[in-house]
Amino acid sequence: MKITLAFDVYGTLVDPMGMSRLLEQDAGEQAAVVAGLWREKQLEFSFRKGLMRVYEDFGVCTRQALRYAMATHQLDLPTDREDQLMAAYLSLPAFEDALPALQALKGQYPLFAFSNGSYPALEKVLGHNNLLDQFDSLVSVDDIKSFKPDPAVYTYARRATGAWDSPLCLVSSNAWDVIGARAAGLSAIWVKRDDNRVFEDWGIHPTAIVASLSELENTITNL
Ligand code: LAC
Repeated sequence: MKITLAFDVYGTLVDPMGMSRLLEQDAGEQAAVVAGLWREKQLEFSFRKGLMRVYEDFGVCTRQALRYAMATHQLDLPTDREDQLMAAYLSLPAFEDALPALQALKGQYPLFAFSNGSYPALEKVLGHNNLLDQFDSLVSVDDIKSFKPDPAVYTYARRATGAWDSPLCLVSSNAWDVIGARAAGLSAIWVKRDDNRVFEDWGIHPTAIVASLSELENTITNL
């Protein structure tokens, strides 16, 4: 039965840490730490808003997390600079393995981008990196106003991709996303880009682990 692939976007196809370079202007040597806190809080805010059922566009989480990260490091964030950084988030760089891997898989499997990001944000960031055309379609949590790892989101992905009777497999570098998908009954491949990356021990395991998206084609054949 043909497997459908649903790719996480931020952290898997495009790199949120790509903001570090721009943040050097604001935070100097602290830039990478600020970018890390920004990403961490963006996710935490989305998890909390999901639990609290006060859904807002993922971009709102991103903006509020940016403010938090800058304030924590006592850095100025004038409105025009905030807008500039938010605009830059829409052209985050893709990981080098993303485009070749998607090109290799295109036509072999139904391919979807599946993300907490809104449709306009996904179209921009994927379009900027020539990734948008590789997908059959996009699935945004905005359709159901909740965030990963709410199980409802993964169930919705089945409906949105049409993968009711065939396997749906998430591809994600985010361990929390892999655990969320597995807990909701999906297959999930963890992209462990970094040897030191630890998978949380919850007793819920990835279906497979790859070190790079370039290993996907072979891995999927052997699933
Ligand atoms: C995504 C982020 C949250 O869903 O990784 O694309």
